[in-house]
Amino acid sequence: MGLAAGVATAPADAAPKAPSPGAAGIGDAYYPLDGNGGYDVGHYDIRLSYRPAGDELSGTTTITAKATQDLSRFNLDFLLKVSTLRVNNVPAKFATDGGELTVTPAKPIAKGTNLTIVVTYDDSPGKYKLYGFNAWKRTADGGALATDEPQIAPWWFPSNDHPLDKATFDVSIAAPKDFAVLSNGTFAGKSTQGNGLVRWNWRSAKPQGTYETSLVVGKYQVNFQTAPNGQPFVTAYGADLANPDQARASVERTPEILEFESTQFGPYPFEAQGGVVSTGLGFALENQTRPTFSDDFFTDGSDTYVVAHENAHQWFGDSVSVAGWRNIWLNEGFASYAETLWSEYLGEGTAAEVNQYAYDSIPADDPFWQVLPGDPGPDNQFDDAVYTRGAMALQALRTAVGDADFFKILKKWTKTRQYGNGTIEQFVGLAENVSGKPLQSLFTTWLFTAGKPAVGPNGASVS
Ligand code: ARG
Ligand code: ZN
Repeated sequence: MGLAAGVATAPADAAPKAPSPGAAGIGDAYYPLDGNGGYDVGHYDIRLSYRPAGDELSGTTTITAKATQDLSRFNLDFLLKVSTLRVNNVPAKFATDGGELTVTPAKPIAKGTNLTIVVTYDDSPGKYKLYGFNAWKRTADGGALATDEPQIAPWWFPSNDHPLDKATFDVSIAAPKDFAVLSNGTFAGKSTQGNGLVRWNWRSAKPQGTYETSLVVGKYQVNFQTAPNGQPFVTAYGADLANPDQARASVERTPEILEFESTQFGPYPFEAQGGVVSTGLGFALENQTRPTFSDDFFTDGSDTYVVAHENAHQWFGDSVSVAGWRNIWLNEGFASYAETLWSEYLGEGTAAEVNQYAYDSIPADDPFWQVLPGDPGPDNQFDDAVYTRGAMALQALRTAVGDADFFKILKKWTKTRQYGNGTIEQFVGLAENVSGKPLQSLFTTWLFTAGKPAVGPNGASVS
């Protein structure tokens, strides 16, 4: 509120602040409306029914959160039409517009208040677009997949949709009895409802990003196994896979891959393991504890590299998440480097060889070298450069600091930032700290400068 000019008053910051609206975005440089300000989510309880024939998703999501400022109103990220909305048991006013659900509680909320936000809805996710895309996929088996990055949550549950606000999850979905339903974490049972739908319950007990949270409904063969370390190992293979045996030959090696990766990155941070293979997805995604794979990865021979990649993301992406989407190299560069470590494990070329080979095979005039892995922009977030040049950058770091410090850096990063977030600058700072070497110019060259670096990832002496 403005003050009349010339009137002597106490400094403005001495007056108690009036409750104000929570920001419509959490402050992401690439996606200004992703996430929201003014509250922090602790838990999502998602309890829905999905009827694939009509693409009908209905039920309730209950969000437990805490206000981080005095709030007159706040936003959730959500595309679907809301039926009712209560905040701490009192009906609130609400409006949805282009992915932003604005909630105006009956009375302002004081900073520090615990919030229970109950949202009921009944709508068809398939008809909505965000940033020009429909990320909700209806699959050839008659089911649906909520698996995408950076945005997927707004198609199926209201959220603070940004990796900065992770939470635990209960996901409980009922579907017709010939469909299987999967999500993350541990299986908490299934039962037939009075209306004949079968309800499947899943629970994630560790902090999980909204984009890591998956919903898989379809015709799958679901296998409940136990990994050698005693964790549940749940896999699901689509009934319509082109090469089910090859998919299995790769995904069934998940426990071995996680054991190997634990030796490189530190203890596996989650409570369950698994994988889902679907047709028609076109990519793979590091959904927490249970990555999703397009069956295309398994058509030309058994390919464990994508399994090593998505499972490496459990450390780099899921446990340590980007603090903003411009830091995507911390996910994709690291998971791609993990593939080169896996190659070494398989005896198919050392990490040094694989990264050198990539460097040598891409000519300097290839547009590949124009994308900056350290700040690719929203349109190039998943460009090959973020992956392949991103992995070379880690090989260059390894060359500069030596093996002992390199793996010390990786393990310290996953340990100190476990279940949290990070920026590239923080990683560079840690690498300098551990190694005692100045590394700014190395990272400037590999991550932030257009053009092919003059010296390869193994230094001048190797070619
Ligand atoms: N993080 C995924 C990976 O590991 C990439 C997902 C790309 N997203 C997409 N919609 N294509 O490669
Ligand atoms: Zn990846």
